[in-house]
Amino acid sequence: MTTTLRPLTHADLPDLVRMEGELFGAGAWSRESLAEEIVGTGRWYLGAVVDGRLVGYAGLWFDGYDAQVMTIGTDVAHQGRGLGRLMIDALVDRARALGAGAVLLEVRVDNEPALRLYRRTGFQQLGLRRGYYQPENADAWTMRLDLRDPTPTPQEMA
Ligand SMILES: CC(C)(COP(=O)(O)OP(=O)(O)OC[C@H]1O[C@@H](n2cnc3c(N)ncnc32)[C@H](O)[C@@H]1OP(=O)(O)O)[C@@H](O)C(=O)NCCC(=O)NCCS
Repeated sequence: MTTTLRPLTHADLPDLVRMEGELFGAGAWSRESLAEEIVGTGRWYLGAVVDGRLVGYAGLWFDGYDAQVMTIGTDVAHQGRGLGRLMIDALVDRARALGAGAVLLEVRVDNEPALRLYRRTGFQQLGLRRGYYQPENADAWTMRLDLRDPTPTPQEMA
């Protein structure tokens, strides 16, 4: 099994629309939203390809200060094999390379696989957003991974 990460293009839209519907149900982004997102200002999207097939995707938005995980998903048949970890690590590496101070995200409070993935990557819970996910009216945890160098500067130590 060969796994590679690569940028997403408009040619990926049929696969993205299918996976988005399967993974996010009523909250899925439309084809138009996905088409705008993958080329949007400050956005960085990648796809995970296994044996020539797109089976995962993830994206980041950098606003010049912090980075926000916009989405992450692995095709159901390929979940639990480390692709999520590969993609979130790539997003965090990219955020670090851009000079982001932190990576932020929202996750449904009952989304155990995603919570495991984020906690294992070092994200910490910040707070609760009630009714964040519509139309399901589900609550979200906000989470944050600090990328700032924890080593105090000489000025801070003085
Ligand atoms: C979250 C998601 C992207 C993880 O993708 P993945 O390719 O399965 O990720 P990995 O294989 O790297 O596994 C990540 C963690 O989730 C756990 N996991 C995977 N599938 C799981 C399942 N069905 N139930 C519980 N935990 C599961 C893994 O054990 C792993 O935890 P660990 O490192 O502590 O062992 C995937 O579950 C998904 O696409 N979910 C639907 C979309 C979604 O909810 N996206 C997140 C929005 S915030």
